[in-house]
Parts: sequence; C-alpha cells; structure tokens
Amino acid sequence: MDIQKRIEELEEALKKELENVKTMNDLQNVKSKFLGKKAEISGFMKHMKDLSNDEKPAFGKKVNEGKQRLSALIEEKREALRKAAIEEKLRQETIDVTLDAPDFTPGGVHILNRIVEEIEDIFVGMGYKIKEGPEIETDEMNFEKLNLPKDHPARDMQDSLYITEELLLRTHTSPVQVRTMLEYGGKKPVKIICPGKVYRRDDDDATHSHQFLQIEGLVVDKNTTMSDLKGTLNTIAKAMFGEEREIRLRPSYFPFTEPSVEVDVTCANCAGEGCNICKQTGYIEILGAGMVNDFVLKESGYDPKIYQGFAFGLGIERVAMLKYGIEDIRHFYTNDLRFNTQFK
Ligand code: PHE
Repeated sequence: MDIQKRIEELEEALKKELENVKTMNDLQNVKSKFLGKKAEISGFMKHMKDLSNDEKPAFGKKVNEGKQRLSALIEEKREALRKAAIEEKLRQETIDVTLDAPDFTPGGVHILNRIVEEIEDIFVGMGYKIKEGPEIETDEMNFEKLNLPKDHPARDMQDSLYITEELLLRTHTSPVQVRTMLEYGGKKPVKIICPGKVYRRDDDDATHSHQFLQIEGLVVDKNTTMSDLKGTLNTIAKAMFGEEREIRLRPSYFPFTEPSVEVDVTCANCAGEGCNICKQTGYIEILGAGMVNDFVLKESGYDPKIYQGFAFGLGIERVAMLKYGIEDIRHFYTNDLRFNTQFK
C-alpha cells in the first residue's frame, strides 16, 4: 500500500466532511472518526512489524506527519466555528438604534421643592446663606429662647406635637435661627434663610396640614431697620409673584419680634381691585415678619444695643396655592400624578 497516497486521500475525505460540520458536536464526531483509536490512520502503525528496519523510520514519520495534518485541519475548523459563534452572538445582541423607545415618563422635582429652590435662589442672590436644623427640637430652642416661656398664652398659636416633656417636632424653623446666632457667638452679622419641614397639631383639611414646609429668614447686623425689612420683603414678593405686585405691612403680634407685622401682597386675580379670592380686600396675606425681639437677641448671645435684626417666615404650600390657584393643601401630599405632572 502507498501510505503517502492513502494519507492524502484521508486528508481530502476529511476536508469534505468538515465542509458539512456546523457544530462543535459534529466536529467532535468527525475528529474521532479520523483520529480516534479506531480511525484508519491509527491502524497504520500495525504495519510497522511487516517492514524492514530501514523502512521503519520513514514510514513512522509519514504516519505522524499525516496525523498532524489531519489534526491541523480539525483545529482550523474548531477556530472557524468559535469565531462564527461569537459573530452570531454579536449579531443577535446588536442594538437597533432606529427602534422606537418604549413609553417612558421622566420624573420631575415636586412643585413644593421647586418653589423652595426658587426662593432659595432669590435669597442666595441677595447674599443669604442657607441653614438647616433638626426637625426634632428642644422646647428651649423651639419656644423658650424665642420669648415663649412655658405656659405663655402665645404657645396656643402653634399647637405642638411633643415627644417628651422637653422634645417636640419643631413648629417652625425659627430654632434654626437661634442655633445659628449661638453658633456665630454674638460676634458677626447673620444673613440666613432656613427652609424645612415643620409640624403642628392640626386636623388636616383644605387649608391645614399637620406637616408643611416653611422658609424663615433672619438678618442681624448693626443699623438694621424696619425699612430694610420692608425693602427685602418687597423684592421677594416681586420675584415670587411678579414685578407688578405691591406689598403692605399690617401690625401684628409674634413673641419673637417687636414690632411685628403681617405682610400682604396685592391680589393677582384683581390687581388690588377686590374680588372673591382676596375677599374684596385687594390683598392676600403671605407672611409674618418683624424686628427681632431684644429678648431673642440676648438669649442668642447678641447685644441688642449694638445689633438689631429682622426676621420673616412664610409657608411654602400657601405660596404655591396662591401662585397656581390650588384650592386644597392635601393635593401636595397625595402624590396623584394628575396633580404632580401639571407643573412641568
Ligand atoms: N415663626 C413664625 C411662624 O412659624 C413665622 C415668623 C417668623 C413670624 C419670623 C415673624 C418673624 O409662625
């Protein structure tokens, strides 16, 4: 038998079979057929014993080289299959950027937080710092240092949620002002706003909520006067509600300010003429304010002979209700998307 010729025939036969191989499994079968223990080429070595010693080396070499060539053909195919598999996977996983996106509604900032951010921007633009403080406060910070001793009748203005005798959910963000003055040690001017959640023991209805948002402001400096307060409030009212709005101050009472005022802004609906919304007065109340009571300055480490200050506080929900004509405060908290998405 011409061993060389037979090996070449086997090579051709293998090439033919490999053309039809589609999977690694097929390849494994073909491999054992051509190179396995029972393969023809594996039987060739048996002929060795019939050969002379001179012929043996050349014969052995031919068989081994033949095996190597068959083996190389199989490995080549294995590599081709592997590449094809990877390409197929990539093809299946390609992203078709021309497909329509699934329906997707992006979220947004809640209208109350948006108004807080708007107001913060206005004040930061005027040089105010933003200060925050704890929502669980001591009676001392929330009331006593603000000229509201225990059993003071004005405590009724802010029904409170107590946790212990001495701890409560803050009823306003004024304690942040006290904390800031104490932090500044009575030595340097204060110019801050304090946004945050506050809590009152109220029954929830269209205009009351046991929890709401407030921004209070405090300026303490030498030569601070009531006209600084009025000028500041005028600027804010216009920035918040529109250039054409005017404010009006009415005398009022707060234990922590003296004198105290309530601030009204001209009604947007009737521009001051008088309508249902402003109850025919032409004005809508937006905030409380006043000159910081000497007692509060002293309690917080400032000498009232040198420093004076003004403070103001406004409710964010009320601002939003006036601005957008919202009739029920509870809309802000029920997270009804029909409501929330109106303010995009
Ligand atoms: N702290 C007051 C409140 O919550 C608001 C206020 C602040 C009034 C500052 C006057 C001055 O009702």
